[in-house]
Amino acid sequence: MAAGRALILGLLIGLCFAFRCSATLWDTNALLVVNVSKDSTRKIPESLFGVFFEEINHAGAGGLWAELVSNRGFEAGGHHSPSIIDPWSIIGSDSLIKVSTEASSCFKTNPVALRMEVACDNDCPVGGVGIYNPGYWGMNIEKGKTYNLVLYIRSMGSVNVSVSLTDSIGMQTLATTNIIKTDVSNWTKIETKLEAKESNTNARLQLKTDKKGVIWFDQVSLMPTDTYKGHGFRNDLFKMVADLKPGFIRFPGGCFVEGEYLRNAFRWKETIGAWEERPGHFGDVWFYWTDDGLGHYEFFQLAEDLGAAPIWVFNNGISHQESVDPSVITPFVQEALDGIEFARGDANSTWGSIRAAMGHPAPFDLKYVAIGNEDCGKPYYRENYLKFYAAIRKAYPDIQMISNCDGSSKQLDHPADMYDFHIYSDARTVFSMANTFDRTSRVGPKAFVSEYAVTGNDAGLGSLLASLAEAGFLIGLEKNSDIVEMASYAPLFVNTNDKRWKPDAIVFDSSQSYGTPSYWMQHFFKYSNGATILNSTLMTNSSSSLEASAIVFQDPVDKKNYLRVKVVNFGSSTVNLKIVVVGLDPNLLDTSASKTVLSSTDVRDENSFANPQKIIPVTTMLEKAGDNIDVVLLPHSLTCFDVLTKSDITEVTTTTDDKSYVSSM
Ligand code: AHR
Repeated sequence: MAAGRALILGLLIGLCFAFRCSATLWDTNALLVVNVSKDSTRKIPESLFGVFFEEINHAGAGGLWAELVSNRGFEAGGHHSPSIIDPWSIIGSDSLIKVSTEASSCFKTNPVALRMEVACDNDCPVGGVGIYNPGYWGMNIEKGKTYNLVLYIRSMGSVNVSVSLTDSIGMQTLATTNIIKTDVSNWTKIETKLEAKESNTNARLQLKTDKKGVIWFDQVSLMPTDTYKGHGFRNDLFKMVADLKPGFIRFPGGCFVEGEYLRNAFRWKETIGAWEERPGHFGDVWFYWTDDGLGHYEFFQLAEDLGAAPIWVFNNGISHQESVDPSVITPFVQEALDGIEFARGDANSTWGSIRAAMGHPAPFDLKYVAIGNEDCGKPYYRENYLKFYAAIRKAYPDIQMISNCDGSSKQLDHPADMYDFHIYSDARTVFSMANTFDRTSRVGPKAFVSEYAVTGNDAGLGSLLASLAEAGFLIGLEKNSDIVEMASYAPLFVNTNDKRWKPDAIVFDSSQSYGTPSYWMQHFFKYSNGATILNSTLMTNSSSSLEASAIVFQDPVDKKNYLRVKVVNFGSSTVNLKIVVVGLDPNLLDTSASKTVLSSTDVRDENSFANPQKIIPVTTMLEKAGDNIDVVLLPHSLTCFDVLTKSDITEVTTTTDDKSYVSSM
């Protein structure tokens, strides 16, 4: 594109001349020349922009994973007995009901079960006594919807248990059914449906009886029937992610993969197979228990459902506190190989057969793995990395491997297909990093900017300011997408009741969700995947508070082609911008265009449950477009202009004859 730049410079001089470069031109604050000529275009990678899902902030458990019961196996207090059963509680007084935990489950991997001893018989309070589970800060129960209940029960006598969904204090019944069994002397699986007659966003599940005796419960699950394709993903949250049209999804962490200690790291083998037999684990970095219903299989299913390339980050024998010695790393290498085989081995392979038995005989489309997370500086990273790299390369020559070491400022000292790059900083720093990859060598592995975000005071819980800085940074990545292969914001989700990390892209509670400005900012980039980037040159008489790029893309819905110009005005002044498109027949551009703006009255503004749409993209029509557009950019704004083109202009452009173009002006 160097030739293109020289061309543009010449063109600008020509334009100045043609415009009699007087105050009229330079009074506009900025001029953006977009060059559509053939030698000024480059294809953007198909998966440049994607998402990073980490089990953090209850993103999965109590979030995207629609399971409504928290601590369904009573294991969250540990696999020992006595354990604690939080957030389960009892209904009734101590004298009438006693609960305890016992290692008497039928599931070896989940030994703890709940023992409930009821002392009353005909004299029980009305409705009986029992236990309840409030889910993750209240269950969202919707009138007319059906919920699948599964539980395991055992008792020496007959049982009559009323199962109900109620409001948060057990007063109003939303749905109810009864489990009546004469012989459950062996552990018995009960499956039933609850149909909600009323709605409540802060509901709970109750198991009650008025019959004296002892009942054991284990593995109590309540799932809405209407999850995405029945795959267990909460519909509204799935849609929020799908709307971003992510080219890839990186999972399952982050620090979640590493653990503070290896014994608490995400170990994929313990998250597959029947949900009842998954031991669950306490994630000691983000400090909560997960039943691992959202496990290795479900992450691949999620990627497939999103149409996004899966990027599996696996534990490489390193936690925050430990590093496995290279002499004994082989079992970890084998575990990674097995995890890949699970995803893409054929249905007769050892691990692929388990995937097939779980419902997906065809392999998942795994092409990328990351060897650890943020571990480059940790002991033995490189030594161990080379062992993972060699083993995976040998078994799966096509899999792209991602190193944790930064190759943006100097060449890596080890082989890799990509290197991971994370940036969390204040707004000005992130905005100024738009040019970071301009200086990176064009040879060697490409960058995977798998975590970026403005954090700290500039960001709050998700400010407009943060999103604008990030947009500037992403424009820089787009322009450098010859060497930046992928990028994703982090973290993706936060349950508002467990803000371990802020800000985040999507905020939710049991029933509602909204996008922060950083979420909406990503919408401006969702058609960049696979689009064509055009050489564009920005000239401004103000300081460096503008970033701009231009792409040509085809809208996947209307199948029409558009020229899209994105501009971030990071400054506090209004900017008059002239956009000039050169290198094509102006008749190929429509004379009208749409303008979409993300802005607000105060750059510190945020969205909230009270005002979820305070800062969202707003689209209006521009009356006059074509190859010469005068627009006004609001202070602190991200704007994109979409001009309909009569065909794919990158196919029909000529090499710019700038002299004839300028003289025609
Ligand atoms: O995105 C939050 C955390 O930030 C990730 O877990 C980790 O990779 C990074 O430090």
